[in-house]
Amino acid sequence: METQGGNNASQLLRAQTHVWNHILKFINSLSLKCATELGIADIIHNYGQPMPLSQLIASLPIHPSKTSFISRFMRILTHSGFFSEHHDTPNEGEVMYVLTDASKLLLKDHPSSMKSLLQLIVDPVSINPWFQFSTENIEYVGGDMFQAIPSADSIMLKLIMHNWKDEECVKILKNCKESIASEGRVIIIDMVMENKKEDHELTEMQLFLDMQMMMLFSAKERNEKEWANLIFSAGFSNYNITPIGLFSIIEVYP
Ligand SMILES: C[S@@+](CC[C@H](N)C(=O)[O-])C[C@H]1O[C@@H](n2cnc3c(N)ncnc32)[C@H](O)[C@@H]1O
Repeated sequence: METQGGNNASQLLRAQTHVWNHILKFINSLSLKCATELGIADIIHNYGQPMPLSQLIASLPIHPSKTSFISRFMRILTHSGFFSEHHDTPNEGEVMYVLTDASKLLLKDHPSSMKSLLQLIVDPVSINPWFQFSTENIEYVGGDMFQAIPSADSIMLKLIMHNWKDEECVKILKNCKESIASEGRVIIIDMVMENKKEDHELTEMQLFLDMQMMMLFSAKERNEKEWANLIFSAGFSNYNITPIGLFSIIEVYP
């Protein structure tokens, strides 16, 4: 019987493997893209019989410095079901490759060929938007928030205010007020202390972070009264707090 510790260790290993697999799964798509660009399925198909690795390498339009990569490249494509290894005599001789049902769909002349579809989807034009998914519509503007803040409909300050003393926060908020539209708002994402007194662990976490701010920046985490004090000192008329776990969204209105 597996011990409790052994169970946890194997669960952790499985979870780590699962995460690693998902981090690296792009290799499946991109190796398939390389295989079609090199025309590997058509080369093996045209060979007419199981194709030895050396013959395959000799047929590929690749730089000699990369020929040694091909057996490893074919190994992963075989693992993912696109080619199959064929051995005349088990455990002897050179490995040979044959097509699978999946790689037949990558032949350029197959009536149901998926080659063009693959090339279209695994193309930088289709893939690049993924890299912008989390940053789209954000314009980065450098500057010192104590000097001036660029005009905007609204301004978000996420984990900013807890780094600064009260006078500095009031200065930042005043600069925000000058920069936003009259119907805009400042959205502060930061902690509101003492808002979850019933949760011992969460309160302890808040106290830890307050200590950190004190030691690192001579700054602080604030309770609602202290936030209200900053907000009204900077000339704002109202605010609304929405807790989101450890942190809160504090909407501040001109
Ligand atoms: C704790 S980080 C928060 C970053 C980000 N908002 C987040 O939530 O991950 C504080 C940020 O304030 C920026 N900062 C510090 N002093 C500044 C200043 N005078 N003007 C503008 N930004 C400043 C730092 O560059 C840093 O990116």
